[in-house]
Amino acid sequence: MSENILIELKGLTKRYGYGDTESFALHDFDLTIKRGEFIMIMGPSGCGKTTLLNIIGLLDRSTYGEYYLNGENVAGISSRRQSKLRAKKIGFIFQNFNLIEGLPVIENVALPLVYTGYGHTRRLKTASTILKRFHMNTREYYYPYQLSGGQQQRVAIARAIVGNPEIILADEPTGNLDSRSSHTVMEILKSIHEEGNTIIMVTHNPSLIPYATRVIRMLDGHIDTDIKTVADNQLPQPIEERASHRNKKKPDVTLPKKPNKKRKKNRRKK
Ligand SMILES: Nc1ncnc2c1ncn2[C@@H]1O[C@H](COP(=O)(O)OP(=O)(O)O)[C@@H](O)[C@H]1O
Ligand SMILES: [Mg+2]
Repeated sequence: MSENILIELKGLTKRYGYGDTESFALHDFDLTIKRGEFIMIMGPSGCGKTTLLNIIGLLDRSTYGEYYLNGENVAGISSRRQSKLRAKKIGFIFQNFNLIEGLPVIENVALPLVYTGYGHTRRLKTASTILKRFHMNTREYYYPYQLSGGQQQRVAIARAIVGNPEIILADEPTGNLDSRSSHTVMEILKSIHEEGNTIIMVTHNPSLIPYATRVIRMLDGHIDTDIKTVADNQLPQPIEERASHRNKKKPDVTLPKKPNKKRKKNRRKK
């Protein structure tokens, strides 16, 4: 099943400083990731989780080592090519949402599509379709500050997946959310995973482990434990094999019900 390997890291090392100040955020790090995995990365603060995610996401480079993405060693490629690959293949979700405050929701979501060459209207239409799926369509022209944390993170997820990337990287995406919003975000990530995307997520929250197919615990820049909770042959079908279905409408995500009387009343009227 080697054709199913998406990412391979070999001897990856990230060093900061020299001599007396030398320290290693990652040390001789090996990891193989298959398509369709949902990996949770855990471990104490400072153990290298964000460094790992940033290198996988081509936002940062290792000091030594090899990084194969779809079989190509991307560790030494030019920054320009890294940016192109990143735009095409990788979607990011951050703890602090990282939305652009001066842009309305729909423009935030449409932003990654600038690289596709789509015209402005088509970019907005695509963004709108994704927002609808996450029940954010009534807030398309709100600004980020007008939204709750959970809503901002839904917008950020929409932005991460708008370009149909194969890999979703999430650095503590529920770290700033209450448990209800965390649940919503996890249900969205679950639905994205079930479509065949590969997700690598950093979290401190052990209650989210059931969403993962593999749990990696890191310690001081290396892997401490690595446990697969779902067998490889049970992983969702990789995205390429379903290429012909990709343009079909995706189902709306079912959000957990909110005990809201007003809503119930409205529903009865219909
Ligand atoms: N820009 C930097 N300069 C120097 N040291 C850094 C830098 N970024 C991260 N580090 C160090 O690398 C280690 C790993 O950091 P990080 O990947 O952010 O850990 P985590 O996300 O697990 O909390 C830490 O010891 C941190 O202090
Ligand atoms: Mg971190």
